[in-house]
Amino acid sequence: MTRIWALAAACGLILAAGTAQANPKRVRLPADYAPDKWTLYGVHNRPDIGQVRYLYANKPAIEGAKREGGLPNGSILVMEVYKAKLDAAGAPAVGADGLFHKGDFVQYSVMQKEAGWGNDIPESLRNGDWNYTVYSPDRANKADTREEACLACHKNIGTSGDFVLSWDELVVKARGAVPTVTASTPAAAPGDPARGKALFTRCSNCHTADKSGKHKVGPNLAGVVGRAAGKAPGFAFSPALDRLGGHWDEARLDAWLAGPQKVAGGTKMVFPGFAQGQDRADVIAYLRTLD
Ligand code: HEC
Ligand code: HEC
Repeated sequence: MTRIWALAAACGLILAAGTAQANPKRVRLPADYAPDKWTLYGVHNRPDIGQVRYLYANKPAIEGAKREGGLPNGSILVMEVYKAKLDAAGAPAVGADGLFHKGDFVQYSVMQKEAGWGNDIPESLRNGDWNYTVYSPDRANKADTREEACLACHKNIGTSGDFVLSWDELVVKARGAVPTVTASTPAAAPGDPARGKALFTRCSNCHTADKSGKHKVGPNLAGVVGRAAGKAPGFAFSPALDRLGGHWDEARLDAWLAGPQKVAGGTKMVFPGFAQGQDRADVIAYLRTLD
């Protein structure tokens, strides 16, 4: 078990009291926050921790995500965390839209970016100028939030775009199109599966990788290295993947992870690609451990 998975429940739970590195009280859940006034840009089933999470962005964040160069100060992202409703067999009940049904509301997880807010956070944890906190269902700021736990997790896995883990979805919502990576570098060293496992959090919004075989937004990826492309049983592939043919050998996976649209134009995988060859090599090394 790596630290990431050991911590895996923490994001959606109210964290125990402790010394906060920064001041979680300065992050705001603004009084005008309402799900119908902000932009919903993603919904994540979390079968691993029995939750479903709704991701909202304020106007500055949406405007900022239309451009390159990171989000402006004043950007706020709110994640509404719900327990998943269980069916008679004790598994999360899934709606026709593929989403878990909302059960009890757990909390608001909030992050906000303002000038200089990262300055008092140690470099080892600092995520640019983002601060984090939790609001309870009655909209009270949880002053005992251990912000360093939020930072530790977001730091390790969230460097894709201004330290926002759900960056790709935010960009798709703001720009109405999947961004593509323009320049791509080759890997300098053999793939490192441990680093690849951490990077896989870029994939796990949409893919499970365990032997359960469960599909999410994308197909289950256990055993995908060497597998026939576009053939996972029980998954509805796009026509682009359906007619792709062949197998997922490492060279093809490398091309896929550099730019899915270039390998199969029209694919419904919303992922811009990893520009760094080392990131691709590390994720492929991790995928290879999943057989
Ligand atoms: C175990 C690692 C982990 C920890 C600890 C963690 N998060 Fe997250 N967080 C995630 C992941 C993964 C996502 C992507 C959404 C999802 O699928 O759950 C996310 C998404 C978010 C988002 C939506 C914006 C984004 O970056 O995608 C907010 C806001 C957020 N977390 C706040 C918090 C706060 C506040 C804390 C501390 C109380 C925290 N998180 C702790 C893993 C973590
Ligand atoms: C936003 C959701 C999303 C993200 C993020 C995502 N994928 Fe996908 N992935 C999909 C979807 C949807 C498909 C099916 C594509 C289609 O049918 O066109 C897919 C297909 C695939 C396939 C082909 C599987 C097969 O059986 O042919 C592989 C391999 C894959 N993804 C790997 C990854 C990896 C590795 C990552 C992370 C670096 C990742 N994906 C990130 C949604 C996603």
